[in-house]
Parts: sequence; C-alpha cells; structure tokens
Amino acid sequence: MNGKFLEGKTAVVTGASRGLGRAMALALGGAGAKLALVGRAKDKLAETQAMAKAGGIESEVFYCDVREEEQIAALESDVSKRFGNIHILVNNAGTAVRKDVADFSLDEWRLVTDTNLTGVFLASRAFIPHMKAHQWGRIINITSIMARVGSVGRGAYCATKSGVLALTKCMALELVSDGINVVAISPGFYATDLTAPLRNDPEKNAALLAATPAGRWGEPKEIGEIALFLCSDGASFMNGSDILSDGAWVAQ
Ligand SMILES: NC(=O)c1ccc[n+]([C@@H]2O[C@H](COP(=O)([O-])OP(=O)(O)OC[C@H]3O[C@@H](n4cnc5c(N)ncnc54)[C@H](OP(=O)(O)O)[C@@H]3O)[C@@H](O)[C@H]2O)c1
Repeated sequence: MNGKFLEGKTAVVTGASRGLGRAMALALGGAGAKLALVGRAKDKLAETQAMAKAGGIESEVFYCDVREEEQIAALESDVSKRFGNIHILVNNAGTAVRKDVADFSLDEWRLVTDTNLTGVFLASRAFIPHMKAHQWGRIINITSIMARVGSVGRGAYCATKSGVLALTKCMALELVSDGINVVAISPGFYATDLTAPLRNDPEKNAALLAATPAGRWGEPKEIGEIALFLCSDGASFMNGSDILSDGAWVAQ
C-alpha cells in the first residue's frame, strides 16, 4: 500500500469520538483521507480532531445522533457542503445494554436497535448516492463476534449485530455493479469504553482473558489497520465479506 493512497478521498466515520471509531478515523486520515468525524460528545470529538491535526490530517466535526433521520439528513447536507462527495463510510457508532431479554424495556430495546442497526441503514442510505456518483466507494460496517453466537444478557446487541451482517451482504449485492464494496469487521473483545465494565471487574476480566486464546484484549489501532486495508486496492475483490479479528475467540 502506498503511504498516502487515500489522498483525494473523504471518509465519514460515525462514533469517531473515541474507541474503535477514533482509531479507524486516524488510520484512514494517516493515509491521506479527509475526515468527517461524527458523534455527539463535543469534547471527545474535539480530542479526535486535535489528534488528527497533530498528524497533519484535515478533518471536521459533525454532531449527529445516528438514530435520528433528520439529523442524518442534515449530516449529509453539511458534509457535502464542507467536503463535496464522500467516498468512504464507516458505520461504527454503537451501544450496548446488558440485561436478559425478559428484563428489557422497550426504550432500552429501541436504544440498541436504533443505534446499532437503524443508524447503519440511515447513514448508508444517505451516503450511497455519493459513492454511486464516483462509481467507487467503501462502506465498512462494524459488527461483532456477537453476530455469530448467542450470549446471556446480550439479546438486543446480538440481534442488531447479526442484522448488520445481513445488511452488509444485501448492500454488497445491491452495490457491487456501482464499484462500491460493502464489508463488515467483526471485532472480538477490544479495550474501549464500551467494554470498560468488563475490564474493570477483576473476575469478569480474568474470565474473559481465559476465554480468549490470544490471552489479551484487542487494541483499537488493530481495527484501524483492518479498516485501512479494506480501503486499499488489495481489498478490491472483498465484497460482502466479514473480517473477524478476535484473538481466536470464535475459533474454539
Ligand atoms: N470494543 C469492543 O470490544 C467491540 C467488540 C465488537 C464490536 N464493537 C463495536 O464497535 C463499535 C465501536 O465500539 P467501541 O468499543 O469503540 O465503543 P465506545 O468506546 O463506547 O464508542 C462508541 C461510539 O459510538 C458513538 N455513538 C453511540 N451512540 C451514538 C449515537 N446515537 N449517535 C452517534 N454516535 C453514537 C459514540 O459517540 P458519542 O458518545 O460521541 O455519541 C462513540 O464514539 C460499536 O459498534 C461496537 O458495537 C466493539
């Protein structure tokens, strides 16, 4: 891969305020992409933007709740005004509520499904026309190992992540003739705010490390490198794929 192979391209990254989204944004920016950093937390988005600036990366922050159709429409309009057409969309924004299905309120269910699944639909629908205009595009959907298994207390999360995997395959088929590749990344357990409740509980942390053959947490920058590869020429024939990066958790 040529070091600056994304020069001239613009990437929209949802959930760029921290964790995996921040790592993917900085990885794409490091290869020359301009960045639309999307999220809700102003201070954290400013932090990501400062990190981008320190690396010589051009970026702009856009406040948007991916659950809201009107906010996504405004995002598309604002990003277009700032950058013109975009080429890469990383659907990363996500959340979790950990409780048994029988204990879920409808609001909690909707929080998870609206963020993790409907948000992917809304952002994809908004930016697909940009990529069709170029006859080139990459949509990277962040799903999870939880798309492949069931897990106690993760009913809504597993359902949304399997849904994102299915949506990835459908969009890949619908868009392949427009030069747009739609690919999923399925992370295992990575050290981010989302997993802090597990990492901060010594018993849960030890159990999780014992259950992960690699014996460690994933580092966000490892997902950043995968996203970068997925935007490279080497990944041109990868469409509808699901990239597992989990320290062999699923292999057991
Ligand atoms: N960490 C893991 O082990 C792991 C494993 C598998 C999959 N994943 C997936 O990877 C993605 C990123 O997770 P992470 O670990 O980096 O989590 P995180 O540190 O909690 O970050 C979540 C990101 O999503 C954004 N977000 C949440 N709800 C949003 C909304 N309604 N509108 C806009 N942005 C929203 C947050 O931004 P604001 O707070 O600024 O809104 C934040 O930037 C998620 O889809 C998650 O399911 C993570």
